Parts: sequence; structure tokens; C-alpha cells
Amino acid sequence: MSGSETPAHRTNIEALREKRAQALEPGGPGSNERQHARGKRTARERVEALVDPDSFIELDMFALHRTTAFGLDEREFLGDGVVTGRAAIDGRQVFLFSQDFTVLGGSLGEVFAEKICKVMDLALRTGSPMIGINDSGGARIQEGVVSLGGYAEIFWRNVQASGVIPQLSLIAGPCAGGAVYSPAITDFTLMVEGIAQMFITGPEIIKTVSGEEVSFEELGGAITHATKSGVTDLVAADEDDMCAQTRRLLSFIPQNNLDDPPRYASEDSPDRLCPTLDGLIPDSPNKPYDIKEAIVAVVDGGDFFEVGELFAQNIVIGFARIEGTTVGIVANQPKMLAGVLDIASSIKAARFVRFCDAFNIPLLTFVDVPGFLPGTAQEYGGIIKHGAKLLYAFAEATVPKITVITRKAYGGAYDVMASKHIRADYNVAWPTAEIAVMGAPSAVRTIFKREIAEAADPEAKSAELVADYEARFANPFIAAQRGYIDDVIEASRTRAVVARALRMLADKRVERPKRKHGNIPL
Ligand code: HXC
Repeated sequence: MSGSETPAHRTNIEALREKRAQALEPGGPGSNERQHARGKRTARERVEALVDPDSFIELDMFALHRTTAFGLDEREFLGDGVVTGRAAIDGRQVFLFSQDFTVLGGSLGEVFAEKICKVMDLALRTGSPMIGINDSGGARIQEGVVSLGGYAEIFWRNVQASGVIPQLSLIAGPCAGGAVYSPAITDFTLMVEGIAQMFITGPEIIKTVSGEEVSFEELGGAITHATKSGVTDLVAADEDDMCAQTRRLLSFIPQNNLDDPPRYASEDSPDRLCPTLDGLIPDSPNKPYDIKEAIVAVVDGGDFFEVGELFAQNIVIGFARIEGTTVGIVANQPKMLAGVLDIASSIKAARFVRFCDAFNIPLLTFVDVPGFLPGTAQEYGGIIKHGAKLLYAFAEATVPKITVITRKAYGGAYDVMASKHIRADYNVAWPTAEIAVMGAPSAVRTIFKREIAEAADPEAKSAELVADYEARFANPFIAAQRGYIDDVIEASRTRAVVARALRMLADKRVERPKRKHGNIPL
């Protein structure tokens, strides 16, 4: 005890400590254990597991709701069911909220929302990423319309912060009703398998309205949203994996839109040859191969962080580094639907391209695309509009854009996939590239229909014409003659070529005409 401490001081300190201890189990004695029994960490344990040790500064631990209805005036929950504050991840500042299911099911009321808004405002003011950990029964029913107002205040901030600071949503429990719209606006959503669910209306309402029977997990579990809807970008096996993936994702992205992505020392030589790539493309143009082999071969240490891995697998997106700095990768995947562009893959890649552009991350695009997927399902589903999203996103992006055509670049899809014409900066092709309006058999069938029909042996005639078309057009040199591609390179030199191009473009600056905003085909 110091000389100046009086019994009154001691009483104050003891009272504070007692209040703090109470705030650490705001749902009442045993509530943290009940959270564990649900197979979930508590809100504070989640923050501690995610961030650097001793870096968390909690705000508003003693905040209290102001509701008097439904007997809530007799119940006090210190912190009002959400833990908020500032912390560091790998030494870089982030702001967070973590919803506490032990307090009225993590439901959101007025004060709960005010606490989240306060950290969102701080994140935006200081140019720091915002991370939300969601585990909530949605709008706090006892607080009625005030909860809805609170949600809308959060959504509004999500929109103001979009493209200014990175926003991540981690779903580690239920996330229902309009509550899902905050994660939907944020840049990346991660769901934990088994404990996370997202839906607008739950199984009971669905049964009443349409008679459909579906479980919580089937309706809105992590695998459903990763494979069927694309609502989640990442799936974590458990909460440890959630933390590991979040830290890894943050390692690729800058603090805000005025910052560059973090740079790491790389021991991988930029000039390293990738000999396996010279033999990657199969002899037959219809044979698949795995574009991820090319990505992994080219990037630093073979380290590729894929996003949206289980959705629209005909396009691959994700982050990697070259010479220690982040690149955003977009690649057609010939292993899945021959790498065709369809509605889902266009939307998936477009959003990723826009994220990279907003946050100064150069784009490296690998092209092997036979075109857009034909069919009534695609046409009725609006492939015209959705395919245009990707075209728009690539055309709008002003970050350095480097394109490598490995094999097919046909038709409209050639234009869309970061072609020179929509202002990619450096475009190269492997010698195996076929840059044409369409594949040889379709082209020949279209332009020589009559000749083939009239030939003595139509099949032989068709084969002869296909061979001639392939020899003349199924190569990269016609595009090279016109400067549509800047070089034809041996595949094994791709890493060296890309690294040099990135250096060349490091100071790229583009001025765009003044406007409020464009009108992307949504
Ligand atoms: C107040 C709630 C609550 C809510 C749960 N609780 N949801 N309290 N408002 N929205 C309370 C429960 O009363 C219970 O309190 C405790 O949280 C735990 O809930 P349980 O039901 O026992 O837990 P569990 O069985 O795990 O089920 C979790 C659940 C379920 C799936 C989330 O509680 C549920 O369906 N809740 C309602 C979901 C919902 O319809 N929300 C409104 C959505 S509309 P006690 O005291 O018993 O421990 C919405 C609009 C947002 O959110 C609009 C934004 C624009």
C-alpha cells in the first residue's frame, strides 16, 4: 500500500475490481461454461485467441442497456452483450467487436449497436481494419425498433468504410435475419463449420411459408454458403482455424486504401525458373490441367491463399506474393467446366478484382477460357449482366494488371479476362496460347458449313479445315503481331517475367475522370 492510499481508495479499487470480474461473466455465474458446452469460446476468449498477446484495449466494458420493457429494467449485463476494442495482429492495429451469446443470445439492442458503431468509427478514423465476430440471435426482441435502427447504423458505417478500410466478418454462431447484411457488405466472410449459420429466415418460417423442411445446417451452415450460395469466402474447421486464417488473410492486405500491402522479405529468387510449367499444357486442347500448379509454381515459396475455394471452382481467386509483395490472382480453372465463365464465376471474380483495386493490390490474371457457358439457365439467369460485372471490374481497375495467357483465350471471354484492350498493362502468352474468336471445330463449322456439306467426304473435309485453322489461328502470334500481347514467353520464365513487370509497374498512376461513381451492372 502506498502512503497516500486511504481506506476509501481501497474500497474504490476493490469495487472496480469486483465490477470488472462481474463484467467478465456478464451473462451471470455459469454462463461462460454454458457457452463452452455449446462447443464455442466466449466473446473475450475469441478476441484473445485472435490478436497479439496483451494488445487488446477493451472499450465500454461497463456499458448498460436502457430498456425497461419485458422486465429488463431488473436485469443488468455489464458490456451489454458485445466486447469491443482495439488490438494488434502481427503488430498492426485492428478494431474488433465480438458478440457475446451468453447475454440474451448475443442479441443486438441500442447500446450493443452503439458500442459497435464506436469502434467502427475509430477504425475508419485511424485507417485500421475492422473485424466483427458474430454470434447472435439477431435483433433484441425486447428493444423492438430501436434494434433495427442500431443495425441500420452499422450497415451505414459498413458502406461508408467500404473500399477505405478492409472489413472482415467472422461467423461463429447464428447470424440471422437482417443481421446478415453487415457481413454481406464486408469484404470477406469466414464461417466456422458446425457452429456458424447465416440465413434471412429460419427453418420454421420456411416450413410455414413454403412447406419446405430444412435443417439449420443445411439451410445456412458453412458448407452450404461456401458451395451453394458463395455467401462465405472462407470456411474454418474450428475456432483456432478461424484465427489462423484471419491472421493469414490480413497479412496480405494493407491497413487502408491509402496504404500499400505489407512487404515481407522473400528468399525466393524472382528469377527462379519454373521448369514444370513448360510441360503443364496437355497435347490435346480438350484435356484439363490444374491451373493452381501454375500459380503455386510462380509465386513466392509456392504460398497461395485461396479465397472462395469451394464456390464457382471454374475460376480461382486468392492472394500470394511475388518478391515479398501481395498480388491478387484471378485464374480460369480448366479442370472445372473447362474453365468457362458463367454467372457464378463472373460474380466471384468481379468482387475480388474490385477489392484488389480498392486496396492497391496488383492483379495477376491467368487465362485459359473457352468462352461463356452456353444454355438457357445461364441466359435466363442473366449471364449478360453478370458476365459484364467482371468486364466492368477489370476495366475499372487501375492497379497494375498483368495477364498470362496459358492456352485458350476465345471470344468475348478473351476481352473480359484482363485483355490489353481493357487496359491491362502487360500481357504475355505461352507458346501454347490460342487467341481466337472461337475454337477451331466451331469456327470451321460456322464459316465452312456449305463446303463441308458439299464435300465428297464431309468428315475428311472438316478435319482438313480444322487442321488448317489451327495452324493459322490457334497460336499467340497473330495477337503478338498487333501488340495485343507484349511478348510470347517460355512458360518456365513466367515468374521472372511477372516479377519484372511488377517492378516496372510499381509506380503506375492513373487519373480517372471525375464522377460520383460508375454504374456497375449489379
Ligand atoms: C432476445 C434472444 C434472442 C433475440 C435469443 N435470445 N435470440 N433474446 N432477442 N433475438 C435469448 C433466448 O431467449 C435465450 O435466453 C438465449 O438468448 C439463448 O437462446 P436459445 O434459444 O436458448 O439458444 P439456442 O437454442 O442455441 O438458439 C439460438 C437461436 C434462437 C437459433 C439464435 O435463440 C433463435 O432462433 N432466436 C431468435 C432468432 C430471431 O428470430 N431473431 C430475430 C431475427 S430478425 P435465456 O434467458 O433463456 O438464456 C432480425 C432483424 C434484424 O434480426 C433486422 C436488421 C435489419
